[in-house]
Amino acid sequence: MIKLKKIHLPNGISQWCLLRGEAHNLLRINSANLEPYVVKTCSSDLFVDHDNLIILKAPPVKSFFKTNLVKLCGWTPADKEARGSGLLNKFGFKTSQILGIAIPINPFNSYRSLLFLHYIQDAVNLKEFLLDNPDAPGRLELLDKVAMQTNKMIRKGVSFRDFYFGNLLYKNDELIWIDTEVQYYCWRRSKPMESFLNKKDSMRARFLRTGGKDEEWERFFRIILGE
Ligand SMILES: Nc1ncnc2c1ncn2[C@@H]1O[C@H](COP(=O)(O)OP(=O)(O)O)[C@@H](O)[C@H]1O
Ligand SMILES: [Mg+2]
Repeated sequence: MIKLKKIHLPNGISQWCLLRGEAHNLLRINSANLEPYVVKTCSSDLFVDHDNLIILKAPPVKSFFKTNLVKLCGWTPADKEARGSGLLNKFGFKTSQILGIAIPINPFNSYRSLLFLHYIQDAVNLKEFLLDNPDAPGRLELLDKVAMQTNKMIRKGVSFRDFYFGNLLYKNDELIWIDTEVQYYCWRRSKPMESFLNKKDSMRARFLRTGGKDEEWERFFRIILGE
């Protein structure tokens, strides 16, 4: 279902948008009572409605021309993230449910797109968890789980654009992938594995920066490679 709707954000920004999603989710979005959600080092503005379990991701415009061009081709950040989420679900990975996508129609609006997602309450962000709990019991199993899912993803031909622990939530023994912009190589399924191998050093640095420990890296990397 597609609706033309003026969306008011709690920071005072209002914009006319083409809002699309399933009817029952659009009703939820309509009645959302959003408030700013402050997260360290986040490139988007975030808003959350804790009661209705909605989180809104609003990436600010960086380039006027690019923003408006990608709107015309369905390649806004919200479109890409929603497509990535659908693909990951198809391959059996858990993501946060997409409730709606709103594309601002005025070319001078502040946000590139608006993505309404199911807010996963009481989930732990894996980066924060690993950084805060260097000696937690079950840490190795958790890292193994991430590595096994990553191996499965790569083998399917899917490359997760921003692969690091900050884009994983953990709740009730389950991993939930967020920020789901992915690239799917359906004709060259070996490509994601090749790029992962090529980026080994930067991946290691990222792993260490975002909660992994030096002695945990080799095992993590080998599981991703399927060894
Ligand atoms: N569905 C969600 N449920 C709960 N928290 C979320 C959800 N999506 C994002 N977050 C929180 O917001 C932060 C930023 O989200 P993310 O999608 O990674 O934005 P960015 O593209 O700016 O990196 C995450 O680290 C997480 O803490
Ligand atoms: Mg992110």
